[in-house]
Amino acid sequence: MAKWLDDAVFYEIYPQSFKDTNSDGIGDFNGIREKLDHIKELGCNAVWMNPCFESPFGDAGYDVSDYYKTAPRYGTNDELKRLMDEIHVRGMHILLDLVPGHTSIEHRWFRESMKAEDNAYTDRYVWTDSIWETPEGPGALRGISDRDGSCLASFFSHQPALNYGYYRPEKPWQQAMDAPGPRATVAELKKIMRFWLTMGCDGFRVDMAHSLVKGDEDGRGTIELWKEIRAFLDEEFPEAVMVSEWGEPDKALAGGFHMDFLLHFGPSHYNDLFRCEEPYFSGRGKGDVSEFVRRYRENYEKTAGKGLICIPSGNHDMARLARTIHGDELKVAFAFLLSMPGAPFIYYGDEIGMRYVEGLTSVEGGYDRTGSRSPMQWDGSVNAGFSLAGEEKLYIPLDPAPDRPTVAGQTADPDSLYHEVRELIALRQAHPALKNRGGIEFICAEKNAYPFVYLRSAEEERILVILNPSHRPASFACGYPLTAGLRTFGGEITVKDGTAAVPGGFYGFYRV
Ligand code: NOJ
Ligand code: CA
Repeated sequence: MAKWLDDAVFYEIYPQSFKDTNSDGIGDFNGIREKLDHIKELGCNAVWMNPCFESPFGDAGYDVSDYYKTAPRYGTNDELKRLMDEIHVRGMHILLDLVPGHTSIEHRWFRESMKAEDNAYTDRYVWTDSIWETPEGPGALRGISDRDGSCLASFFSHQPALNYGYYRPEKPWQQAMDAPGPRATVAELKKIMRFWLTMGCDGFRVDMAHSLVKGDEDGRGTIELWKEIRAFLDEEFPEAVMVSEWGEPDKALAGGFHMDFLLHFGPSHYNDLFRCEEPYFSGRGKGDVSEFVRRYRENYEKTAGKGLICIPSGNHDMARLARTIHGDELKVAFAFLLSMPGAPFIYYGDEIGMRYVEGLTSVEGGYDRTGSRSPMQWDGSVNAGFSLAGEEKLYIPLDPAPDRPTVAGQTADPDSLYHEVRELIALRQAHPALKNRGGIEFICAEKNAYPFVYLRSAEEERILVILNPSHRPASFACGYPLTAGLRTFGGEITVKDGTAAVPGGFYGFYRV
C-alpha cells in the first residue's frame, strides 16, 4: 500500500479558478504548474484536482463527455502529463477526480444509448422499458429521443446514470450486477483508470462513490463492486490511492478505499463544527462538538487500522469556512483540522481565509456553490494575480472586498492565517503522534461545552491537543502537568489542583 499516505497532507485544486496563464479568464494546467511551489511551501505534499476532462461544463466538469481527453480549456493530455511529472519531481502526489456514476448527455455513449435501435451502448445507462415508467431516484430524462424508456438521472437531470445494475432487480428492466450491460460499464471504468494511472496519476478521488449500484440501501452491492476495482488495482497498480466521496468510512473502507471524507451531507455531524447557525468553532461559544465526537468515535472504532477518515477544511460543494467563522477563529479551526487523524484536505484559498462571495449568479451548475469557487487571490496586481484577462472574462467574479486576503499579503504578515496553517502542518509532520495514522482518544468533548480536548499518540509519543474556540475562558479536569508546550495560541494554560484553566480563543499542543 502507498506509504506516502502516512503523512499525506492534501490540497484541493479547482482548476478553473486557480491560475490562468493564457488570459482566457479560466485557470489551466500550466497555471497550476506555476503555482506548485505555493502548495509545497505551505507544507502540502499531495493534490486532489477536480475533474479536468472534456465536458460541456453543465456541472463544472462533473459531466464528462470524454473520459480519455482533458478539457482543451485546461490544456492537452500532454500538458496534464507534464503537470503530473512536475508534481512528482517535487516529491508530491496527485489524485485525479473520477466520476463513475454518470456522464454528460453529450457523451457519445449516451447519444448511442438514446437510439431506439439496439447497439453497444443500449445498456450503458439505467433505462426503464417504457416512457411511462419513471425510475425511482434523483430524477429522470424523459421524452428526449425515440427510445421508449426513461433514463435515470444521477445528480442533475443532464447527468444520466451509468448502469452498474441493481442489487436485487425487481422489474424486468432492472439488470443484475452481473448482466452484460453492467459488466461492460465496469470494464470501461477499469480502462479509464488504467489510462490515467499509466500516464502517471497516483490515484483518484471518486465522485459519489456510494451511489453506483441501484436499489442498494445498505451499500452491499456497491461495496462488492469497489472490491472488484481494488482487486484490479492490486494486480495492475498496487500503489494507486483511492479516496471516496461516500461519507460512511466503514462502508468505503470495506470497499477497498484507503480513505473516506466526512462531509456536509450524511450522518457525520461535520456541519456542527463549522457550518450551522452556531458552529462549534465560532467564538460565540454556543456550539456543540459532542455529537460529532460520538459519530467520529463510532467510525473510528470501525475503521482503526484499516484506513483514514478525512475531515476537509471545505470543498467546492460547501460554503467557505470563512463564511461562518472569522479571524482567529479560523486559526483554532485549523488547529483542529490539522491535528486529527486521517489525511487533512485543504481547499484552495482556505489557507488564507478566502471568503464565500455572496450574491453571485450561478456559473456552470454551481448555484449556491459558486461563491466558494471564485478565483484564487494571489496578490495585489490585476485580478488578484489570477488572470490577465479582462475582468468580465473571469470564470467567476473575484471577491470584490477591498480587504480580500491574498497569498502575497499573508506571506508578508507573520501573524496571518497562512503562517498559522504552515506552522501547524510543520508541527503535524514533525510528530508521528499527530500524523495520519496516530491514534486518538477523546478526553473532553461534553455536550454544549468547551474546551475540546483529545490525546494523539504513536509509539512512545503522546500529545494532548486543547482547543477552546469560545471567547470565554473554560476549564477541564486535567491529570497532566502541561509543562511541555509544543505550540500554543491565544495565551497560556494554568493547571491548579487538577483543573486546567484555558483562555478563550485558545489552542495548545502539549507533550504528555
Ligand atoms: C459531487 C461533486 O463534488 C459535485 O460537485 C457534483 O456536482 C456532484 N457530485 C455530481 O457529480
Ligand atoms: Ca486559461
